[in-house]
Amino acid sequence: MIVTGAGGQLGQALVEAFPGARALTRAEWDVTHPAPAGLEADLVLHTAAWTDVDGAEDDPQGAAAVNVGGVQHAAALGVPLVVWSSDYVFDGAKRTPYVESDAASPLGAYGRTKLHGEAAAGEQAWVVRSSWLFGWTSKNFVRTMLRLGAERDEVAVVDDQRGCPTYVGHLAEATKDVLGLPYGVYHVAAQGDCSWADFAEAIFEEAGLATRVRRISTAEFGARAPRPAYSVLRSEKGAPELPHWREGLRECLRRLGAGEGAPA
Ligand SMILES: NC(=O)c1ccc[n+]([C@@H]2O[C@H](COP(=O)([O-])OP(=O)(O)OC[C@H]3O[C@@H](n4cnc5c(N)ncnc54)[C@H](OP(=O)(O)O)[C@@H]3O)[C@@H](O)[C@H]2O)c1
Repeated sequence: MIVTGAGGQLGQALVEAFPGARALTRAEWDVTHPAPAGLEADLVLHTAAWTDVDGAEDDPQGAAAVNVGGVQHAAALGVPLVVWSSDYVFDGAKRTPYVESDAASPLGAYGRTKLHGEAAAGEQAWVVRSSWLFGWTSKNFVRTMLRLGAERDEVAVVDDQRGCPTYVGHLAEATKDVLGLPYGVYHVAAQGDCSWADFAEAIFEEAGLATRVRRISTAEFGARAPRPAYSVLRSEKGAPELPHWREGLRECLRRLGAGEGAPA
């Protein structure tokens, strides 16, 4: 078993959840190129991805080289494959949870590359769509908020996008159950949903920080890439259910040494 993108936040969680897996970081396999000669595997957990949503608007071809080309190269190994896709394949126009049969219609370059990457995975693949990932490593919202919260009294956070913040530890564990399902697309995201501002408030509360959250609009924040206003994911196909996002947050903070019950 191989984990690609093993330096990333989900990659690291998978390496822990699947102790026998061979971890390949970008240095060991840059997935924009075919697999290194002689690489053998019976299963590929393919997490390597271009995840810079705003950067994909500036360099859509670079993003596609990783998110589409990389999946093609993983699929070319000819063994079963798990690829992770994103809630950003949806446009966010719904106000009830997105299920697997809903039509994808990405708003931005990142979402388009992820959707094309799904198609590139081929027939022998589980495509796991998840959302708003956070964990104890890499660049993610929880780590950014902890840094900002330690520096400032108030942080402005977007309040008009709603999704399911998903802890990579829970997603990695659930991957074991996904492997028991037929190949296909599955929605696997944390229970519950919230806005980024709600999430930030919960982070500060759980971490014991007094930082205030100023709720702002997407327009006020002014990110380069458009993002869905609503991207809650649920499964209509019996995908594994994850714990609530707040439980994931607590686990992540404990791991970071920032939450209640963390070592002093
Ligand atoms: N993050 C989210 O909120 C989110 C939400 C839904 C779905 N997903 C999907 O979940 C999967 C895992 O995401 P993540 O949050 O774990 O991302 P991440 O922390 O950014 O990790 C991605 C990893 O891929 C590596 N990578 C980038 N380009 C590569 C290349 N050409 N060859 C090999 N490795 C390369 C990165 O290495 P460097 O650090 O060297 O760039 C990084 O280690 C991705 O498919 C992502 O699209 C993410």
